[in-house]
Amino acid sequence: MPYLQVLTYPRPNLTVARARLKQLQKLGVTHVSFGGRTKIGRLGLVGIGTVSIVVRATVDGEERALKIRRYDANRSSMYEEYRLTGVANRVGVGAYAYSASRDFMLMQLVEGEEIEDHFRAIRGVGTRGRVREIIHRLLNQCRKLDLIALDHGQLSDLRKHVIMAGDEPYIIDFESSGIGRTPKNVTTAAQHLLIGGRPASMVRRVLGIKSYEPVLDALKRYKRDMSDENYVLLLNTLGITT
Ligand SMILES: Nc1ncnc2c1ncn2[C@@H]1O[C@H](COP(=O)(O)OP(=O)(O)O)[C@@H](O)[C@H]1O
Ligand SMILES: [Mg+2]
Repeated sequence: MPYLQVLTYPRPNLTVARARLKQLQKLGVTHVSFGGRTKIGRLGLVGIGTVSIVVRATVDGEERALKIRRYDANRSSMYEEYRLTGVANRVGVGAYAYSASRDFMLMQLVEGEEIEDHFRAIRGVGTRGRVREIIHRLLNQCRKLDLIALDHGQLSDLRKHVIMAGDEPYIIDFESSGIGRTPKNVTTAAQHLLIGGRPASMVRRVLGIKSYEPVLDALKRYKRDMSDENYVLLLNTLGITT
């Protein structure tokens, strides 16, 4: 204690913790540190999710994000998430996944803020261009995932699934992803950002979009036919020219 509370969250379990420590050694983790606003007792975390908790760890002298499978998680290992994150990484999307064991995944540590907070912090000359560029970057990442039929599955809540490192968006948490099903990354992210999500009205105002009808029409067209042409037409409704 208190580290057992993190290692086998939410129930301390010494036997499980011993097995997990062995995995950490195999993964080359030399240090775990507890900084961050989210807390378990007095220990700070990078974040907490429904199936895992994330802490800072050191491997080869480099700081990484260590995703720990919760002891009460409704999935048997981290391997599937590791595999799917790797698929996204191969097209240049997502926080990079380095390695995994049954109960852990080591990832690139992305330090930043939620996308809505980031948008709100942008002001002054050039605001529209910057916000537009960020949306363009994020939609391009979603487009890449659509093209390989990797559906993230949770982009309806970008607040939790995108971390902004400066103006660069990183998609995280491929835990609910799937390959082969109809990918809805572009449509889901755009719907959140521009139509019905929390930041939508602010984003439309900043971009000078008076009505979302043309955007919605373009999204419907893209949904029917995910062609390059329809993707470009969608971008055009946001004032993005390619
Ligand atoms: N690679 C990362 N870098 C920095 N923070 C991360 C990273 N991955 C996850 N987090 C943080 O940890 C939280 C929980 O991670 P998440 O992947 O959403 O877990 P879960 O699969 O349990 O939903 C996230 O909301 C985020 O704040
Ligand atoms: Mg999650």
